[in-house]
Amino acid sequence: MEDESTETRNQARIKILELANMISVPMSLNAVVRLGVPDAIWQSGSNSPLSASQILTRLLPSSSAADPDNLQRLLRMLTSYGVFSEHLDCCSGDRKYSLTDVGKTLVTDADGLSYATYVLQHHQDELMRAWPLVHEAVVDPTTEPFVKANGEPAYDYYGKKPEMNGLMQKAMSGVSVPFMKAILDGYDGFEGVKRLVDVGGSAGDCLRMILHKFPNVQEGINFDLPEVVARAPRIPGVKHVGGDMFKSIPKADAIFMKSATETLFLVSGSGLRLCSYAPGNEAHFSVLALVDFPVLCSQSEALLVNDLKNFSADLLPF
Ligand SMILES: C[S@@+](CC[C@H](N)C(=O)[O-])C[C@H]1O[C@@H](n2cnc3c(N)ncnc32)[C@H](O)[C@@H]1O
Repeated sequence: MEDESTETRNQARIKILELANMISVPMSLNAVVRLGVPDAIWQSGSNSPLSASQILTRLLPSSSAADPDNLQRLLRMLTSYGVFSEHLDCCSGDRKYSLTDVGKTLVTDADGLSYATYVLQHHQDELMRAWPLVHEAVVDPTTEPFVKANGEPAYDYYGKKPEMNGLMQKAMSGVSVPFMKAILDGYDGFEGVKRLVDVGGSAGDCLRMILHKFPNVQEGINFDLPEVVARAPRIPGVKHVGGDMFKSIPKADAIFMKSATETLFLVSGSGLRLCSYAPGNEAHFSVLALVDFPVLCSQSEALLVNDLKNFSADLLPF
């Protein structure tokens, strides 16, 4: 056995303890979002450093029971992960907190969107029940952890629960609108496309933004599960079509997929080509745009980046 007192062994023990307690990080994040802390600090852009007590005064003005010490523990935890900045008042010793650039992604914008809903969506009870079963996906990969925990696949389950469906759509809008702004700033691959289908398009935000930037796209088809498109808002130039992408996909000149790609595509040649779904339609799709989180790293390389290393969203229990 190695010498337990070496610096390397000490560092390894510290690291594994940190990993073992890592759940405190997303749970703290979820807690501050549920409490509404980012919006309370932001207050129309002031982002002035506030103590935990001052934040609570804004959040729960009439509560005498609310505990600033516990809130401060959450704030300090998330400060160490770059969500807040801590400011120490040298006279009073008070600690105050403002939002970092990371924290600002949680602030509700003029359209009512932010990444906060994505945080909430990823910590719903149903998903949380599935996480402790992830090891079973190794032992028996035939049933997803989500199914084991909740009795049916995630999207079937969401489809029956309007509030979860709504949360999912809002979460995706909050993530996808700023994401698409970044993509469309530097991507011209939709030129020449007249009819475009977004597979798994949720509320249709991506198509709306693509059509706005590329008037040559005369018809956008937002294709998603029937329960999802039933809630989608009317968007000029966009037709919402309900269906199952594993059965068929509406015909178009090009298809677009974002964050819905797990099993559908494989990388081939210089682009990403439709693999085995859309039965009967394979030859029809000549242009493909497939985007996922790593695109943010480099827009010019976007459509070939496929390295999810160290990216936690690559692992979900469904
Ligand atoms: C993570 S969301 C991505 C939404 C959107 N593309 C975006 O990036 O904002 C995945 C989407 O795929 C849809 N989806 C899942 N299974 C599907 C299926 N079998 N057929 C059609 N759409 C499906 C979901 O309803 C959901 O809207």
